[in-house]
Amino acid sequence: MKHSELSLFKEQGQKITCLTAYDASMAKILDQSGVDAILIGDSLGMVIQGGENTRSVSINDMIYHTSIVSDSSSNALVIADMPFASYDSSDDALENAKSLIDAGARMVKIEGGSEHSDVIKTLISNNINICGHLGLQPQLVIKSDDYRIQGRDESSAQTIFDNALLLESLGVSVLVLECIPSDLAKTISENLTIPTIGIGAGVNCDGQVLVSYDMLGITTGKQPRFVRNFLSNQITISDAVESFVAEVKEGTFPSESESY
Ligand code: KIV
Repeated sequence: MKHSELSLFKEQGQKITCLTAYDASMAKILDQSGVDAILIGDSLGMVIQGGENTRSVSINDMIYHTSIVSDSSSNALVIADMPFASYDSSDDALENAKSLIDAGARMVKIEGGSEHSDVIKTLISNNINICGHLGLQPQLVIKSDDYRIQGRDESSAQTIFDNALLLESLGVSVLVLECIPSDLAKTISENLTIPTIGIGAGVNCDGQVLVSYDMLGITTGKQPRFVRNFLSNQITISDAVESFVAEVKEGTFPSESESY
């Protein structure tokens, strides 16, 4: 899938589905179950490597997993996370983003807003498609207690809104919104032409993303309220993924109780 097709989905009022994959087997299942976009998330630092946060993931880790996942995906748009500290300067960002594109990604994801304007301009002028990521930025989280809803007060909500408009004006193609109130995500989605993909951001985003290990119940410990176990009423992983796709497309996931 081309990145421009995600914008067509928004124009046509069709919801976008996205799940994470880190390996060939999961990539094939997602790709064949109708998932629109596969994210090689740096959540792999936690669910694959067992770390407390995503900050220890290296660009070489991301290249390795991106190459495996993209070799096993023929339908879905493959998006790779730029890991922590891999886009501190425009030169580093360009070199690292190119290596992810060479490994098979069609788009790279960067967390944050105006502080990365120069990096974003550099990547876009080099024809690299970008997915933004606002709200809760996992790369700023050190301890699990720091995973908190963002944009609850007026000034932080305004900052997220302003950054969303800025990212669109810089040429970002898609925007992940993580852990923000549904009303804020709705306002942002209505004010942008590019699609928003929510995780803990309510049903009014243009699409939804989850960490595959969370929605299959593999992740242990207390889960945030936006995680639904799609495997619990299904027999196979493919069925669970198809159920996620159907519920997102129908607008029945996330429910109000799975939102903020
Ligand atoms: O790393 C990841 O899996 C992500 C999702 C939570 C959106 O960034």
